[in-house]
Amino acid sequence: MKVPFMDLAAMHAPIAEDVVQLVGELAVTSAFIGGRHVAAFEEGWAAYCGTAHAVGVANGTDAIVLTLRALGVGAGDEVLVPANTFIASAAAVSAAGATPVFVDVDPVHLQVTPDTLEAARTERTRAILLVHLYGHIVPPAAIAAYAQRHGLLVVEDAAQAHGAIWEGRKAGSFGVAACFSFYPGKNLGAWGDGGAVVTDDPALAERIRSLANHGRAGGDHYKHAEIGVNSRLDALQAGILSLKVPHLDSWNAAKNEIASLYRDKLAGLIVEPPEGVTSAWHLFVVRVADRDGVRERLGAQGVQASVHYPIPCHQQPAYGVAAHAPVAEAAAGELLSLPMFPSMTSEQVEYVSAKLVEALPS
Ligand SMILES: Cc1ncc(COP(=O)(O)O)c(C=O)c1O
Repeated sequence: MKVPFMDLAAMHAPIAEDVVQLVGELAVTSAFIGGRHVAAFEEGWAAYCGTAHAVGVANGTDAIVLTLRALGVGAGDEVLVPANTFIASAAAVSAAGATPVFVDVDPVHLQVTPDTLEAARTERTRAILLVHLYGHIVPPAAIAAYAQRHGLLVVEDAAQAHGAIWEGRKAGSFGVAACFSFYPGKNLGAWGDGGAVVTDDPALAERIRSLANHGRAGGDHYKHAEIGVNSRLDALQAGILSLKVPHLDSWNAAKNEIASLYRDKLAGLIVEPPEGVTSAWHLFVVRVADRDGVRERLGAQGVQASVHYPIPCHQQPAYGVAAHAPVAEAAAGELLSLPMFPSMTSEQVEYVSAKLVEALPS
């Protein structure tokens, strides 16, 4: 049996005809930038997340950069970032002109806690970038209380957590703003790059919209209130995302069923979400000894596994900063992401689980 890491084609089959129609319409209208598809997606995505506003941007990295800029976080400011996230979380902080300060995580869920945040906080700390890694929401109540005590902003990096739920609320509805990526492999993925910021703050939404559109002010095309960038979600991506949103909950539910099947076979190995979190299971991650050997042995059995992420951010050549993150460092050598996609069959889950157990070092 061959089990791919993910199967995007199966997710696209139910929308394929509608996409053809969408492309046909855009060929006639030529409304490629902005327009009704972008507005409709933004309205729908805000409603889905339970926020008042959504602003489409070019990708998830820009969503973070523009949010920080719009919040006035930049040169001289520090932003707390988990050491074990994808590099874009940190790079976005740097691109905004601020300094990412890498934070260790708890050994069970691999998430930041008030204690690990406190170990990295200084008088220059302005914000926490709360990354819901793998689709597991970081329970926001304790983080919000900690942030409030120290006057810090909480920005969610929800790039891996579309539709994840904590106490009935969706990822993206907890911080001052939340940033999404619609990279094709995400739980809600475009057919190219895309991103969005959601927020309840109308002024923040407007400033991000302006910054993402050359700093344009109001409706005046050639009036620029500040120096912005070109970071817009295009109409084709927005239209495709709108076609996919109605499927997101059922895809996430299917992933949760697959996680339960895996749990029956692999209890004790899985990086689980905290109590009270319904994960989006963007990634299904286990911890194993001899990770690279296990991955190779799985590959030989037709099982495509991956690693998220092999090097913590602070140890990347791009940063290479001294940070004390022993938990993130130890985990990085053991993490293995197993196949996880909505159309995965129970036979495939059984096969992957059996082959994983066989591949473990004795
Ligand atoms: C946690 C996290 N943050 C940020 C990003 C950046 O998103 P993008 O690739 O759309 O720029 C990604 C995805 O790639 C991600 O996984």
